[in-house]
Amino acid sequence: MKVVVTKSYDESCAYVADMICKLVNEKPNCKLGLATGGTPVPMYKKLIEANKAGKVDFSQVHTVNLDEYCGIPETHDQSYRYFMNTNLFDHINIDKANTYVAKGMGDAEANAAELEAKVREGGVADLQLLGIGNNGHIAFNEASDHLISVAHIEKLTESTINANARFFEKKEDVPTTAITMGMGDIMAAKCVVLIATGLAKTDAIKGLVMDNVITTQNPSSMLKMHENVVVVIDQELADAVG
Ligand code: F6R
Repeated sequence: MKVVVTKSYDESCAYVADMICKLVNEKPNCKLGLATGGTPVPMYKKLIEANKAGKVDFSQVHTVNLDEYCGIPETHDQSYRYFMNTNLFDHINIDKANTYVAKGMGDAEANAAELEAKVREGGVADLQLLGIGNNGHIAFNEASDHLISVAHIEKLTESTINANARFFEKKEDVPTTAITMGMGDIMAAKCVVLIATGLAKTDAIKGLVMDNVITTQNPSSMLKMHENVVVVIDQELADAVG
């Protein structure tokens, strides 16, 4: 595991955006695993700027997103499809037919099976982008006494619902279940890049980078078993981690 400590969150976003641009330039038809949440938003802005400046071409890129809330349609302004369109896809020259965000509505089991198939369709992701939950969740694989390897429906924890309430009018509006890639899906990616900022992530990052323990109580700790992981954090978070 490579841990990159940058001066600032902005620099972390620039670092990850550069990695993605380099990959796309080297392999124009690469497959990217993408994440939502607050953390990658400024990084996506940098990808948009690079695309508009002619420094990177997304026309042949394929993407698969980690997760989607259950029970809200893709037109809802908090759906992850809406998030991806408004924060990235609408502003770059990607073919939306080559982008996949799981369905949050309809037959949950069929939707999970479809996500599982998309993770491997045309090969696994060349790069999987991740954020991390305050409780160490990656995608929506929540801290628990067990983890699931394949795409599935997950009941969100109180910690995640509280953290995501900031995006909704009120906490009661936050969906309580989500469809998510499983741990095996994330571990299958050729390269995993996790970006984190903010002191709320201190314990989660400690469990990820500080010792050699793997525990289902911090799902991100499973990444210790992956050969090509880059964790990008800023100095403020690194200082708190110790
Ligand atoms: C989002 C996702 C989640 C977030 C995590 C951190 O697709 O899979 O695991 O990465 O909840 O969210 P933020 O960035 O809002 O702190």
